[in-house]
Amino acid sequence: MLSRSAFVFSALSAIVLGGCASTAMGPSASADLQARSGSAVAGKVSFSEANGRLRVEAMVSGLTPGEHGFHVHEAGDCSAPDASSAKGHFNPLGKAHGHHASVERHGGDMPNLVANAQGEAKYSAEVAGLSLNGPTGVVGRSVVIHADPDDYKSQPAGNSGKRVACGVIAAR
Ligand code: CU
Ligand code: ZN
Repeated sequence: MLSRSAFVFSALSAIVLGGCASTAMGPSASADLQARSGSAVAGKVSFSEANGRLRVEAMVSGLTPGEHGFHVHEAGDCSAPDASSAKGHFNPLGKAHGHHASVERHGGDMPNLVANAQGEAKYSAEVAGLSLNGPTGVVGRSVVIHADPDDYKSQPAGNSGKRVACGVIAAR
């Protein structure tokens, strides 16, 4: 009898916990990507808070195969044909550009996006030092994809080349 109730209880817990883990809980934000610099890039980037970090997920098409610099930029303005209106990397703590796992980095420095041979990328990362709102918040800023990989060290932006897509980040 005791073991049977224990089994029922753990089965119920598993269902409840599974439900929480598989459903987007709490506030989130997203950005619809617009092609820039003559590219054919399209896609969407989603943001939510998880484990004290910002979870960033993206589905992107129209890229050249390989790695692409991927950052949150300071200004929520993608209007320029080359996306220069998005300004530089979001840098709330006044640091140098760097590797996403290092302490010396812009808040907006994220792991490179990697496109497959078909030019499609599916991306998921949890980034420290960013949030949805507040001083480190990404809402109202922009997310930018570059033509080339971020080398994670060149100043001020990792030598990642042209801006091939840009999206303004809006709360959802
Ligand atoms: Cu960038
Ligand atoms: Zn940077």
